Amino acid sequence: MNKNNQEKKIIKSLKNLLRNKPKGHHDPLFLGNEKKYLSKCISTGYVSYVGKFVNLFEKKISSYTKAKYSVATSSGTAALHLALKYFDLGQNDEVLVPSLTYVATANAVSYCGATPNFLDIENESLGICPVKLEKYLKKIAKKNGKFTYNKKSKKKIKALIAVHLYGFPCKIIEIKKICKKYNIILIEDAAEALGSFLKKKHLGTFGDAGILSFNGNKPITCGSGGAVITENKKMCLRLKHLSTHAKKQDLIDHIHDEIGYNYRMNNLSAAVGCAQLENIKKIIIAKRKNYLWYQNAFKNLQYIKILKEPKFSKTNYWLITAVLKNYKIKNNLLKKLKKEGYGLRTTWRPLHSLKIYKNCPRDTMKNSNDFFRKAINLPSSPKLNFS
Ligand SMILES: Cc1ncc(COP(=O)(O)O)c(C=O)c1O
Repeated sequence: MNKNNQEKKIIKSLKNLLRNKPKGHHDPLFLGNEKKYLSKCISTGYVSYVGKFVNLFEKKISSYTKAKYSVATSSGTAALHLALKYFDLGQNDEVLVPSLTYVATANAVSYCGATPNFLDIENESLGICPVKLEKYLKKIAKKNGKFTYNKKSKKKIKALIAVHLYGFPCKIIEIKKICKKYNIILIEDAAEALGSFLKKKHLGTFGDAGILSFNGNKPITCGSGGAVITENKKMCLRLKHLSTHAKKQDLIDHIHDEIGYNYRMNNLSAAVGCAQLENIKKIIIAKRKNYLWYQNAFKNLQYIKILKEPKFSKTNYWLITAVLKNYKIKNNLLKKLKKEGYGLRTTWRPLHSLKIYKNCPRDTMKNSNDFFRKAINLPSSPKLNFS
């Protein structure tokens, strides 16, 4: 079938499927106590970061993810920045980051003055390819004492951020083994992965720290918000301190013992988050139905394939991802549907191709480039299949 006909058929099937449905990219679903809890904040006057919903939200996140500790933040980006800060990253450090991720992953590295070193993905999990990672490290890195250094830049390869893209688990178990071998800190960017599990373990709980996002487009939202999850009590206490301007407890005075950040989640956001978490199971069920719904709708079109979650995982299908057989139809297809208000998008653009990151070190990028060329994200709101 020629390119125009492929495009027409996909557009027709999508429009048919999304008839009488919300067309947005990821409209949030508010089911329960959001208004009630918000009005509690307003009536008590606790609207900024001091308030009982913030602590309650942290407890609920820990209980859902089974992470021992969680620190609620104003965004996922802030959570990532804080987690990197804890490990004291600076200008003499490099951080291994997949190129195919949202820009915030690399930006958090840049905020610390460190340099992202970009890695390629592999096609099943959409995360860092452990085989290529190991080869790349063998080529560029040298162990000196306890630590691993980039032979060319002489910088320490101090950390790796493993991203669970679109809620799919990357090969975190294999990646963790490599990090251990090279003594590299492992941080999981699980911003897109609340409600996703690998071998029944929540994503974000495999590494030294994990981060989550509760932005408006995430499975559950606080408007804007994030969290660091960890097993490390010392990290939890320090990040709470750092996220509140490093202000020491004092009855009357303002004592700040280092340069901190205004990164703690506010009570209004946490109130919405608490209400959202009460319904997370229903929301994830609806999102998992989205996969079957699209899969069924496109099963007879051989030139578009809906990606299925990797083996041993149960994911949130955050953004349903489709791969086109003919990448030449992608831009036209997206433009046409976008003009009519449908929330289709290209996948994240590989970061090594952005001007701001073009001078960073990187591995070869065949898989990331191929994936970006031919994959798209489809409307994925839980509203599409909520019952
Ligand atoms: C992979 C990834 N990392 C980090 C973030 C940043 O989260 P936030 O938007 O809450 O700052 C996002 C947000 O979309 C993301 O997708």
